[in-house]
Amino acid sequence: MTESFQSLEKIPRHVALIMDGNGRWAQERGLPRIEGHKEGAQSVRAVLRAAAKAGVEFITVYAFSTENWKRPPQEVDGLMKLLVSSLNAYEQELHDNKIRLRIMGQFERLPLPVRLRLQKTLDATRHYTDHTFIIALSYGSRTEIAEATKRIAEKVKAGELDPKKIDEQTVADHLYLPDVPDPELMIRTSGELRLSNFMLWQLSYSEFHITDTYWPDFREEQFFQALEAFNGRDRRYGGVKK
Ligand code: FPP
Repeated sequence: MTESFQSLEKIPRHVALIMDGNGRWAQERGLPRIEGHKEGAQSVRAVLRAAAKAGVEFITVYAFSTENWKRPPQEVDGLMKLLVSSLNAYEQELHDNKIRLRIMGQFERLPLPVRLRLQKTLDATRHYTDHTFIIALSYGSRTEIAEATKRIAEKVKAGELDPKKIDEQTVADHLYLPDVPDPELMIRTSGELRLSNFMLWQLSYSEFHITDTYWPDFREEQFFQALEAFNGRDRRYGGVKK
């Protein structure tokens, strides 16, 4: 599979992924939901490796949404613990592949031990520039846009910003990670045709690849297929083909 990536003409700089179907994967095997998430964490690892191999600079995964806080406390706790154990298990790989970790979302809402563990890896990988791994945690796109709006309004109130000068770039500059380019490709697993409050602003012009595969079964081969599909597309940003 390795050499296949080299056969692709276009490699997206940024790929965003909605990891869906962990629960169903587990249910179909008569396993507790957390087992689906654990297997899903292995898929995250596989995709990170494949992305580094393919030359994708940014990978963003939707690991925990603002809505996910409503899940049973046992599942929320299991996901938080899984995040910490995954970091412990993969940190070396981030260093080996020179991958910088970043977080997108309401960091302060996460439990303190999770924040402390994340902060350690955020600091230890801050200097890497080749690849970036972004975990969307307690993330909601509407909240992100509302928070950006609040900060813009504060600047106007303080006399630092002229309301007449507010444009698309102003909004983009106040989102969580303003220096990260918009994803060219968004992949969603398990066949759902929804955005689920994920990067509404940033995905305005992205190609979507929806696969029926459940996230725990999404590995290098499926990632390659998504890039292949992306290569078959024509992106015109609403303009006309030249
Ligand atoms: C959606 O499946 C998946 C999630 C809410 C959690 C995704 C989290 C991981 C894979 C954990 C590892 C993350 C990292 C960054 C190491 P679902 O539970 O909604 O599935 P269902 O729709 O089949 O119920």
